[in-house]
Amino acid sequence: MEFSILLLLGLLASCAHGSSSDRQDDYRPLTFKGQRYSCKCYNGDRCWPSKKSWDALNKTVNGNLQAVVPRGNVCYEKFGTQSTYNADQCTKATEDLTVGVKVVTDPIAPFWPFYSNNTCDPLPNVSNKTCTLGYLPEYVILAKTVAHIQAGVKFSAKKNLRLVIRNTGHDFMSRSTGFGALAINTHDFDSISFTTKYKGPGAWRGGAVTMGAGVMIKDVYNQAYAQTPKVVVVGGECPTVGMAGGYIQGGGHGPLSGIHGLAADNALEFQVVTAEGNHVTANAKKNPDLFWALAGGGPATFGVVTRVTMKTHSEIPSVGMILNITSQQTNYWKGISIFNSMTPNFVDAGMYVWYAFTATGQFNIQPFVAPNLSRAQFDAVINPFLNALRSNNITFTHDIQEHATFYTLYQAMFAKANDRGMSQTLMGGRLFTRDDIKTSNDAIVSAFKAILENPDGGRKVIGGHVVNPGHGVPNVNNGVSPLWRNVASHNLVIVPAPFENTWEGRKELEGNVTNVYGKLLRDAAPKSGSYVNEGDVNEVDWQHAFWGSNYPRLLRIKEKWDPKRVFYARSTPGTEGWAEINDGRLCRKR
Ligand SMILES: Cc1cc2nc3c(=O)[nH]c(=O)nc-3n(C[C@H](O)[C@H](O)[C@H](O)COP(=O)(O)OP(=O)(O)OC[C@H]3O[C@@H](n4cnc5c(N)ncnc54)[C@H](O)[C@@H]3O)c2cc1C
Ligand SMILES: *[C@@H]1O[C@H](CO)[C@@H](O)[C@H](O)[C@H]1NC(C)=O
Ligand SMILES: *[C@@H]1O[C@H](CO)[C@@H](O)[C@H](O)[C@H]1NC(C)=O
Ligand SMILES: *[C@@H]1O[C@H](CO)[C@@H](O)[C@H](O)[C@H]1NC(C)=O
Ligand SMILES: *[C@@H]1O[C@H](CO)[C@@H](O)[C@H](O)[C@H]1NC(C)=O
Ligand SMILES: *[C@@H]1O[C@H](CO)[C@@H](O)[C@H](O)[C@H]1NC(C)=O
Ligand SMILES: *[C@@H]1O[C@H](CO)[C@@H](O)[C@H](O)[C@H]1NC(C)=O
Ligand SMILES: *[C@@H]1O[C@H](CO)[C@@H](O)[C@H](O)[C@H]1NC(C)=O
Ligand SMILES: *[C@@H]1O[C@H](CO)[C@@H](O)[C@H](O)[C@H]1NC(C)=O
Repeated sequence: MEFSILLLLGLLASCAHGSSSDRQDDYRPLTFKGQRYSCKCYNGDRCWPSKKSWDALNKTVNGNLQAVVPRGNVCYEKFGTQSTYNADQCTKATEDLTVGVKVVTDPIAPFWPFYSNNTCDPLPNVSNKTCTLGYLPEYVILAKTVAHIQAGVKFSAKKNLRLVIRNTGHDFMSRSTGFGALAINTHDFDSISFTTKYKGPGAWRGGAVTMGAGVMIKDVYNQAYAQTPKVVVVGGECPTVGMAGGYIQGGGHGPLSGIHGLAADNALEFQVVTAEGNHVTANAKKNPDLFWALAGGGPATFGVVTRVTMKTHSEIPSVGMILNITSQQTNYWKGISIFNSMTPNFVDAGMYVWYAFTATGQFNIQPFVAPNLSRAQFDAVINPFLNALRSNNITFTHDIQEHATFYTLYQAMFAKANDRGMSQTLMGGRLFTRDDIKTSNDAIVSAFKAILENPDGGRKVIGGHVVNPGHGVPNVNNGVSPLWRNVASHNLVIVPAPFENTWEGRKELEGNVTNVYGKLLRDAAPKSGSYVNEGDVNEVDWQHAFWGSNYPRLLRIKEKWDPKRVFYARSTPGTEGWAEINDGRLCRKR
């Protein structure tokens, strides 16, 4: 589903009903279902900042503070006390939000409206309903300078507000939105600069690129290609995902990861605003613990990154392939099984593969990417796969492309297909190692089949990335789960959700992602893990699933740099004992 860029049109409704004087409470006590909690401050609480305080913050950030207005409001009769319905603007909103880059440039619109509680989706049939904020923040600072970010961090720490960092809004796992919060939007930090010889601490003397917090993958890919000589950077598939935010802080895989590792493996330095509001450098020499944690240890956990410096590498020729198998044939599942069983062969050649299939549509592998392989080397890896399909009478269509550079392959095979906008789905998934595939392929494929066949009426999709960063970079010292050194298949379960749902319906759907689909995958390969950025946000034993043996150190670093928990994102280091309870309030168990 889609939404649009909502022009604010003077609709900045006054959502702040703060009391006239601010009261500084250390915590807000609350009892819910017999459990005692200490909560952050929310609109309506006595500790919520007064209008005067918000105005003062607005001055500090040069007028860049906005009261959040959900872009879907023009489809509804009312938002707050304002009449908002406008048929033309609603149509435009609904159309615009199919486009990824238009979601990104909205101050706060999420890609996955399920996590805004679906209270203001731009739909054609809601004109007699009232739009509410749901789980969107109350205010957002459209930060232009480091000082604006520092002001936002200090204000939320002092006033005990929930703080949300919003870069592009892509996060599948609800982590760039939050009920009642103050958000800091980093999208305008768009500087990019290259050097051919990095001179900072550490051994690396190759090229590097320094990017502001808001830089998107497409921007750095374009500029890298314009350098002399041309270079490449490890980035993801989607043109509008950010580099410095959740992507690199959660690890960050991409089509070049099979030869150059994860984005986090390529990090050389971060600039970061800490929980105390200081702007510090983190690299191999300065604050090395923070540097270690920011490289893969979890988004919105250790600070607000304002800039990141990453390695660049030489451009390389690349081969790509698209292959489709329709489900209208007896051996459809056999084809899926053959593919899955051969994922270790693909990653051992440094390849990256995106695939997706449904129970009754087609198995679409689009694309296979073989960076720096010649056509002959590519054929040597792929022919055994094609021959196995043929000898099982599986019919398929395919198309092979040879590109002189990775950049032209990316433009031809990824860029357009990946600029999708809002989608009403939930995410689950699993990281299967080469060993998992070798020992448990049949069990894993049976789990896929059981997931797609679970009777719930929804058209679920199983997809994934076949990639092993450990092939390119076998040894690293960073926060990324050690499991990533031996991955064959990073699998995703994409579950559609109805727009209209009761609270119980929402919980049942989330429960199925974790306890039915997730359980099937965990049981099929008990040693598998999960990816922080593309997995189930309610993952069971998420500490271990996302970070493995690195977790205890990440927790110590969180405790050191953010003892008061100014930063919070679900299922990230140091959030044990915290819960989003009742109507979305973020609270800590007492
Ligand atoms: C279409 C699509 C394609 C994708 N492709 C890939 C892929 O190829 N490879 C891959 O690894 N992942 C991929 N992802 C997942 C992606 O890595 C995550 O969604 C990631 O969280 C996006 O980060 P963001 O900063 O762009 O997004 P946001 O949603 O804005 O932020 C994500 C998280 O990072 C935090 N954050 C943002 N900026 C900062 C900052 N400056 N400092 C601290 N915390 C910050 C946010 O608070 C939030 O918790 C894809 C996602 C989508 C939707
Ligand atoms: C912040 O100030 C700007 C410029 O004066 C104004 O347009 C905006 O509405 C203010 N924000 C809030 C939340 O009052
Ligand atoms: C809104 O309209 C729908 C039909 O479009 C109807 O079913 C529903 O009862 C209406 N709700 C209200 C509150 O009028
Ligand atoms: C979230 O949605 C549920 C209905 O699914 C509703 O009962 C609840 O009040 C909503 N909460 C907020 C904050 O929007
Ligand atoms: C690409 O392959 C060539 C020749 O096989 C090799 O010399 C070069 O180091 C490779 N480059 C990368 C980045 O792997
Ligand atoms: C493939 O089809 C041929 C001819 O119809 C048949 O002899 C053979 O047994 C089939 N093989 C498989 C694996 O189904
Ligand atoms: C494979 O399927 C996709 C999606 O339907 C389509 O865009 C593409 O053209 C197909 N390619 C081949 C080679 O069959
Ligand atoms: C959850 O899964 C059960 C069976 O495992 C199914 O009966 C039910 O319809 C599913 N519910 C949802 C909301 O997906
Ligand atoms: C409105 O349309 C959406 C999407 O088509 C649908 O899911 C929802 O149930 C509809 N709601 C009403 C009130 O008809």
